[in-house]
Amino acid sequence: GDRTAVRAALLGWYDAHRRTLVWRAGPGAAPPDPYRVWLSEIMLQQTTTAHATPYFEAFTRRWPTVSDLAAAEDADVMAAWAGLGYYARARNLLACARAVARDHGGVFPDTEAGLLALPGVGAYTAAAVAAIAFGRPANVVDGNVERVTARLFAVETPLPAAKPELKRLAGSLVTDERPGDWAQALMDLGATVCRPGRPLCERCPLTAWCAAFQSGRPERYPLKTKK
Ligand code: ADE
Repeated sequence: GDRTAVRAALLGWYDAHRRTLVWRAGPGAAPPDPYRVWLSEIMLQQTTTAHATPYFEAFTRRWPTVSDLAAAEDADVMAAWAGLGYYARARNLLACARAVARDHGGVFPDTEAGLLALPGVGAYTAAAVAAIAFGRPANVVDGNVERVTARLFAVETPLPAAKPELKRLAGSLVTDERPGDWAQALMDLGATVCRPGRPLCERCPLTAWCAAFQSGRPERYPLKTKK
């Protein structure tokens, strides 16, 4: 059915066009270390991939494992975080690293529920780490995934009310085949092709199934409630 075709088209596009990002494993490689996935996802919640990259490299060079980060001085971590903004997130980062070190022997829980129980780990981060590091079929929904989903299904409900519907529709495309690649393929498509402004539909692997493209006005989606 369409789900199989959409998945094959997007995963094929990802294999050909995936971005090279320092926290990603290479194509076809073993999944990356959960510590690296978790750290990158926390950093990326507040900044772009380009801005996060040098911070990610500095953190992982200085604190190569979650237990190293757990043992760091608060002030050193706060200083290394400077420029990423939103310091509450750096405090949560340390609280989480210390919980993993203290309560889990330095090993990240390998399920979405286990991850969600960690301090500072919300629904998005738990799903992203479960899918990318552990190959769990988690439904990873960020702003990029919401936009791609709203367009693919031409969702007429405006944001933010559409969020539950978008989450359900995004989940309808998740299977246990390559869950981490699936999540990151949606993110890459949203960042580079299915962009917030004018989408580059001529480069999109999904136009054959995209209801927004077929409507002739893909940029209309996602609809937003006027503030
Ligand atoms: N944005 C948030 N997480 C990401 C990831 N794993 N890859 C690309 N962009 C992202």
